[in-house]
Parts: sequence; structure tokens; C-alpha cells
Amino acid sequence: MTVPLLDLVAQHETIKEVVLPALEAVIARQGFIMGPEVGALEEAVAAASHARHGIACASGTDALLLALKALDLQPGDEVITPAFTFFATAGAVHNAGGTPVFVDIDPGTFCMDPAAVAAAITSRTRGIVVVHLFGQMAAMEALLPLAERHGVALIEDAAQSIAARRRMDATWHYAGELGWCGTLSFFPTKNLGAWGDGGMIVTQDPALAARLASLRLHGGTREYFHDEVGFNSRLDTLQAAVLLAKLPFLPSWSAARRARAMRYDDAFADCDGVVTPSADPANEHIYHQYTIQVERRDALQAHLNAEGIGNKIYYPLGLHLQPCFAPLGYREGRLPVTEAAMRSVLSLPVYPELTDAQQDRVIDVVRAFYR
Ligand SMILES: Cc1ncc(COP(=O)(O)O)c(C=O)c1O
Repeated sequence: MTVPLLDLVAQHETIKEVVLPALEAVIARQGFIMGPEVGALEEAVAAASHARHGIACASGTDALLLALKALDLQPGDEVITPAFTFFATAGAVHNAGGTPVFVDIDPGTFCMDPAAVAAAITSRTRGIVVVHLFGQMAAMEALLPLAERHGVALIEDAAQSIAARRRMDATWHYAGELGWCGTLSFFPTKNLGAWGDGGMIVTQDPALAARLASLRLHGGTREYFHDEVGFNSRLDTLQAAVLLAKLPFLPSWSAARRARAMRYDDAFADCDGVVTPSADPANEHIYHQYTIQVERRDALQAHLNAEGIGNKIYYPLGLHLQPCFAPLGYREGRLPVTEAAMRSVLSLPVYPELTDAQQDRVIDVVRAFYR
């Protein structure tokens, strides 16, 4: 039995009766740009994130870029970000005119280490992009006061953590709720995936929301009048229709991912050579990825590939060591936790439609390798 890393065909089978009519409605209207579905999705996703405003855009990368553009970065301005994340987090800082400053992660959660952020703040720091990686939130209760004390913006990259939440002061807070803004991705493989690219920014701040809505439409609120130079970064109405139809399934999908993760945790508890992912007890994890740390990682990956078990290394090279950032002068050894993670992590199939039989097969193949 082969097991894919993700099975969107299986997901589609369960929802096509709901999604296809939503698409047909847009097609019948031939209203593809900024149709009513876009505004409805903005409201619904903002509500799911406990935010007042949602601004849909063309991708999770653009969501980051628009948010960072709204910071009006000047040459030399620094934005602190983890090195263990998808490239877009730091690429957007560069493209918005800032300099990424890379910091290390917590070895348990893989999320940004607040102590490392505190040590990296300088007079040039303008922002912090915290990444809620693999489906759980970073230590916001430590990062928020830090950002506030230094007067810098805290942007939450929640591309992998839509509607994940964290208990702080006995209250649940959602990804994107507490920062200056939060950014989301609807890339097809995300927990809430479109049928193409898509993204959104959520925020409590009405002035920021208005600025972002303008920036995504060439910097103007009236057609053919432009207050500043913005972008064309709209979310297609067709994608909004797909996402609106899929959104009600998200809570049950996240619960199913958690159940799959717990099943792996039990199965690998006594497996020497495998360290299961640690969920911070303050978090409700949505397991965008189930990422183990293993001995002889590359040999295990070859074994899984030979047995037809989907897997992937997120991420094989820290952003501080990427060739494009060589001019920033980072050397190997600078971020040891990131560097240990990039050599030992491996993500396994964890999606709602994964069957017990498929998961048992993944477990057997991993356990057999370490026997
Ligand atoms: C942490 C993180 N940030 C940003 C992005 C960018 O999102 P998109 O692929 O929608 O541009 C992704 C998506 O892979 C991501 O995982």
C-alpha cells in the first residue's frame, strides 16, 4: 500500500457537492473580480480568527508583502524573523525594502525563541514576523510585550495555523488576533486550501485594514485615483467561493488532524530513534504538519520513498544559510537549533482523510527502519 503525503482528491470527494455549485454560481454570473464572495470570505475568516477585519489577497506571500509594505520600511530597517520557516517569510521582508534578521527557534515547538528575539532587537528594528509553524502558535505572551516595549510591529505569519489558538491568561487567543496583523495562506496544501493561490491579512486595526485594502488595489480606493503605488493582489472570486464552501469543514478537519497526530504519538512513544513533535500545552495545535526528528534522517527518507510512503523535509536549509542571503553574512553554527532541526526533521502524512490502515502502514514502515 502506498500512502501519499496529502490526498486532496480524497478531500474533494467528500465536499464536491458543496463546492461545485458555489463555483457554478460565480461562473453563471461571470463575476470574477472582487465579487460578493470575496467580502463574505473576508468576514468569515476574520471571525474565525477573532479579528475585526480581513483583507483578501493573491497569496500568503503577498499577505506578508502587503503587511510589510504598510510598515514603510527604509533602507537599513531590520525585521526579525526565524530562519526555520518557508522562504516567503524572509523574502517578503527583503522585497518590502527591509533587512531580515534571523533568530533561532525553540527546540520543542520549532517556533521563534522569544529570548533570541529580545537579544536581536536594535535601534534599527521596525518589526518582528513571528511564524506559527506547522500548526501551533509561538509564545505570543512573551513576544507581544517585547514588541510593545520596543515600539515595533508584530506580524503573525499564520500561513500554517489558520484558527489555531493558544491559551493566555486563561483565555483562548487565535492566530492573527493579537498581533498588529496576521497573514494567512490558502495555497492548496494548506489546512484551508483554495484551488490555486490565495491569501488574507487579518487585523483589529481599521486604519491598517483600509491601507491594506488600498495597497492590494494599486494604492487607491477610487478607480483611476492613486494615493500611493500599490499592487494588483486581489483574491479571485472563484477562489473565494471555493474557500467559503470549504471553511465550515475546517474545525472538523483540524480535529481529525489532531486525532491522527495523537495516534502517531502513541505509536512512536517507544520507538528509539524517533522524537515525536512537542505540542506546547498552551496550544491547540492544528497539525498542518506532523514533523518528527529522527536519527539517520536521509536513510529513513530513502526507506520511506522506496516503500511508497509520502514524506517531506520542511525545511532542509535554514534561511540564514540560503545563497540569496549570503550578503547578510551568516555562517553555519550561528543558529544551532535551526541547524539541528534542518538535519533531523521529517514530516509524515497527517490529513483528515488518512485511514487507519494507511496510518498503520506509515507507522510500520518507520518502526521497521529502526528495529
Ligand atoms: C510559513 C509560511 N509563510 C508564508 C507562506 C506563503 O504562502 P503562499 O504559498 O500562499 O504564498 C507559506 C506557504 O507555503 C508558509 O508556509
